[in-house]
Amino acid sequence: MKAQAILETAQALVAGDKGLLAMDESVPTCDKRFAALGIPQTDEARRAYREMIVTTPNLGDCISGAILFDQTIHQATKAGVPFVKVLLDAGIIPGIKVDAGAKDLAGHPSEKITEGLDGLRDRLASYAQMGARFAKWRAVIVPGDGIPSRGCIEANAQALARYAALCQEAGLVPVVEPEVLMDGDHTMARCAQITEEVLRAVFEQLYLQRVMLEGMILKPNMVLPGLACSTQPTVDEVADATVKCFLRAVPAAVPGIAFLSGGQPSELASVRLNAMNVRFKTRVPWALAFSFARAIQQPALEIWRGEAANVPAAQQALFHRADCDRAARRGEYTAAMENA
Ligand code: G3H
Repeated sequence: MKAQAILETAQALVAGDKGLLAMDESVPTCDKRFAALGIPQTDEARRAYREMIVTTPNLGDCISGAILFDQTIHQATKAGVPFVKVLLDAGIIPGIKVDAGAKDLAGHPSEKITEGLDGLRDRLASYAQMGARFAKWRAVIVPGDGIPSRGCIEANAQALARYAALCQEAGLVPVVEPEVLMDGDHTMARCAQITEEVLRAVFEQLYLQRVMLEGMILKPNMVLPGLACSTQPTVDEVADATVKCFLRAVPAAVPGIAFLSGGQPSELASVRLNAMNVRFKTRVPWALAFSFARAIQQPALEIWRGEAANVPAAQQALFHRADCDRAARRGEYTAAMENA
């Protein structure tokens, strides 16, 4: 029974041309983005911002699922409607970030391990009770001189797999997010090499932990050079390198790959996703979808700036980005959409 529900949720998250909206920034991350724009870093400002997002008209046309943060899943609109109900009424599946963040990995300078497995079984049960149908866990892989180490990759892959198994036990779809960061001057070829190694380790551990691959979503980075790399590839080169890497390492049983945006400019994230679908949509076994946070939210945040009067314009900007990403899933995104 639980297995059937998990399969159906996983399919629904990547069905048609929709994708996920990540709005699961922790309090410090949200505050950092608010501070950069001079927005007050208060509970009420964070709540009002999330209300602006979830009440965006027609958001459910483009978004299949929204990833909330612990504080947000407990919150409601000013009128008292729980955010979970607002999402469900909009046809959007509520999800929840359940990791406790990436911390320094002992004995491995500059490398990270994601924490949060202790007590996870009970937390998943209570989130499921509140209406969440999927959960997310992010592992952070830092490229650099001589890193990532095998120890870091294995530790993160095992944590992801243990989290994913607990999710499925609780009836939730795990969104498995191993992110190779864009920080640094590494080349696209180096990113491809690291991403492949990480994905192979993750799927080995998912197998060992008996995770049902048909009932999960992979949320990876695109294969990109570091932001400081002197050679930046074309859009088609990114699409080719990304899909080549995933064809090598991601089993066909996985229903969908929902990319994170990782700090790419919003339009570039849409353009790159579009190129992957134009070139490969009919030739790959999984849906090529999106699970963006910054690439959907940032333009809207810059318009909202904490002012109630800016809500309609911010919502229009949010919907526009989601709509562009939806078009990118079909391989029908064009630059003209940005001026429409
Ligand atoms: O964990 C990270 C978010 O879910 C995705 O965020 O699209 O801004 O990289 P991003």
